[in-house]
Amino acid sequence: MTSVAVIGLGRVGLPLALSFADRGVEVIGVERDASVLRSLEAGRMPFQETGTQELLDRVLANGGFRSTERAPDAAEADHFVLTLGTPALVHLEIDVSQIRSALDDLLPVLRPGHSLVLRSTVAPGTTEWVAGYLEQRGGFTVGEDLFVSHVPERIAENHFLDEIASLPTIVGGVGEGSSEHAASLFEVFGTEIVHTTPAQAELAKIWTNILRYAQFALPNLLMMECEQYGANVFDVVELINHDYPRGGMKAPGLTAGTCLRKDFAFSEERSRAPGMLLAVSRVHESVPLFLVEGLKERLGGSLRDRKVAVLGLTFKRDSDDLRDSLSGKLIRLLERELAHVARHDPHVPELSEPLDSALSEADAVVIATNHSDFEDLGARVPGGAVLVDPWNVAGSGQVFATAAELVRAGT
Ligand SMILES: NC(=O)c1ccc[n+]([C@@H]2O[C@H](COP(=O)([O-])OP(=O)(O)OC[C@H]3O[C@@H](n4cnc5c(N)ncnc54)[C@H](O)[C@@H]3O)[C@@H](O)[C@H]2O)c1
Repeated sequence: MTSVAVIGLGRVGLPLALSFADRGVEVIGVERDASVLRSLEAGRMPFQETGTQELLDRVLANGGFRSTERAPDAAEADHFVLTLGTPALVHLEIDVSQIRSALDDLLPVLRPGHSLVLRSTVAPGTTEWVAGYLEQRGGFTVGEDLFVSHVPERIAENHFLDEIASLPTIVGGVGEGSSEHAASLFEVFGTEIVHTTPAQAELAKIWTNILRYAQFALPNLLMMECEQYGANVFDVVELINHDYPRGGMKAPGLTAGTCLRKDFAFSEERSRAPGMLLAVSRVHESVPLFLVEGLKERLGGSLRDRKVAVLGLTFKRDSDDLRDSLSGKLIRLLERELAHVARHDPHVPELSEPLDSALSEADAVVIATNHSDFEDLGARVPGGAVLVDPWNVAGSGQVFATAAELVRAGT
């Protein structure tokens, strides 16, 4: 039976480990965070991901999955899949420290024939660096006696179980032998396997995210430009796209999250045309201030002692993932205006007050995350309050709407 060690049981590693186990692969998960291991021992998923609690129940009942905090416990596995965090340093440079520390843990147990797959998102050149690091420190010849590949993860949160079984699997091996080893593991998912080079696999992944990040910057920039000209961004987006074959302008919103906010830096770190993607990032990062300034203007020039309800703390619709959410920045900016901020997110009850109490006597309501729960919010906004809804999730058709305008819009 094929066996795999999945190193790093985070939002990518744990669903992947469980999905391998569900398909008959013997899996050992390695995780250094004791709270994750405790949660798994108790049979509980440490985070929300659609369908994975049932998957965990099934896998634990059937056997074939165990977890440990010690990488050497995984020495008997055939494959090592690294699903570690790869943040960006403020220097616009990939932080490979988690990968490097896992490689150091694994070096004493690696033996000829082992295959190592980098599933984390990485800067171009990182897979070759990993191969070189293992050759330098372990005496291997990668592609001959040790196999190293990049098999990037392109699944969207809350879609893991559907997309692991449907998205093409990109495999970039260092040498042909490496690609074959990685493909032999990932073929259990039954999806198309696309072979390429490590650098192309790395570029395909980061540019998948850069494409989205850049696409969403345009409607956000347009939203800010519309404010300058007294125009309505939702009307302009509709004018651009309506019955026009080359349209496709996206809608505005608070665009962030742990992947989009840092993956562009992996391109930027060695860019021949530096700055363009940084500008994309700056557009997104300026949206919270734009919303605070717009609100301030509509509330008579000051937010001091005003109550502002911020609805949505996560970076993504219907998710509990707080990492790199722009809601946090928005709240900090409101607090620096001496506003009283009430927070509510149905997916993060531990940081929330109930919706009614957050809305009660609010001077303004800001929808910071487009959760589906907020779709029928319009009628609950207190009379006289300003609704700030860059997503138009509540359907007012305005970024800044008064209660009277909400009534007129029939929301
Ligand atoms: N979250 C997503 O939706 C997503 C999607 C596509 C790609 N990715 C990429 O996948 C990678 C993992 O992302 P994530 O969201 O799962 O990150 P994460 O931070 O949730 O998970 C990483 C896990 O690795 C553990 N870890 C760190 N060092 C370790 C070590 N030496 N030994 C054992 N465990 C260790 C951490 O404790 C953590 O639980 C990143 O490169 C990310 O960019 C994430």
